[in-house]
Amino acid sequence: PIPVIIDCDTGIDDALALLLAVRHPGLDLRAVTCVAGNTDVEGVVRNTLTVLEQAGAPDVPVARGAERPLIEDVRTARHVHGQDGMGDLGLPAPAPTRGPVDVDAVTLLRREILASPRPVTLIPTAPATNIALLLRTHPEVTANIERIVFMGGAVATGNATPVAEFNVWHDPEAAAILLTAGVPITMYGLDVFERVVVPGPDVRRLRASAEPGTRLAGELLAHRGPATDESDPGGGLGDAGAVCAVIDPEGLTTHRLPVEVSLAPGPARGQTVVDRRARPGESELHRGAREQPLVDVALDVDVARYVNLYLGAVERTGS
Ligand code: BDR
Ligand code: CA
Repeated sequence: PIPVIIDCDTGIDDALALLLAVRHPGLDLRAVTCVAGNTDVEGVVRNTLTVLEQAGAPDVPVARGAERPLIEDVRTARHVHGQDGMGDLGLPAPAPTRGPVDVDAVTLLRREILASPRPVTLIPTAPATNIALLLRTHPEVTANIERIVFMGGAVATGNATPVAEFNVWHDPEAAAILLTAGVPITMYGLDVFERVVVPGPDVRRLRASAEPGTRLAGELLAHRGPATDESDPGGGLGDAGAVCAVIDPEGLTTHRLPVEVSLAPGPARGQTVVDRRARPGESELHRGAREQPLVDVALDVDVARYVNLYLGAVERTGS
């Protein structure tokens, strides 16, 4: 299995991502690190522990990370993810014996990355604060990172602002550091993120399951929407699509393009400016003096393929 670490702000769709990573036999989830985003970092840690417990994977180490972005203030998305950051589903609190590990996220990331016998794939599904701190504190980790598959950014329309996607908007400086990490990077942005929707009948079947992890996936999807059919709404995989992209990269169409985060104050702050003018062989011409990192930007996704992948994994019993 592929060794992976998820850095998240759980988060309804982060929870869907964790469930997939725990259940899919092709992945070895070595650690989960938490960062402020959808809700405050305390809430993210609690939600993450709850999900791992419900998924039958209570022993995956979880660490608490940054409680605010590098420069910005915390700007949570409770209007989207509920007061508890996870849909206010009334989930049980994690067992009192469970807690985060006694080291911070950056330390756990470094430890797990360097200890892995195979290079690790990092899957940040949250503002990139922890990843930026890791890269600046322990740059040697990049030697054992296979790839970063990052949920964030948008080629076209944003969600937090007209042009900026939430994770990048929440900590633009951190995203800029991530994109210049010097390792292969896949940008799983809003352009594909919003398209992968599980149909209503499948969501209903998951919700009716007797198995807690499968049922939780159904509840989370039902909370998310958007509706594919008003009478029988489905639910978007959201961040879990980035995990699909690690398991099955062939389901994604990517182009290697220059990407720059807009950092200037003003309406474009947090935008990922993707230079789609670049064509193989021409890119040097267009890149000119302002050399930007080349990122594998997801432009299209095989929706049915990722939905089937997801359902196949979360409906497996046992992990
Ligand atoms: C991203 O923002 C968060 O609210 C979601 O969990 C996802 O990671 C989408 O913009
Ligand atoms: Ca997230």
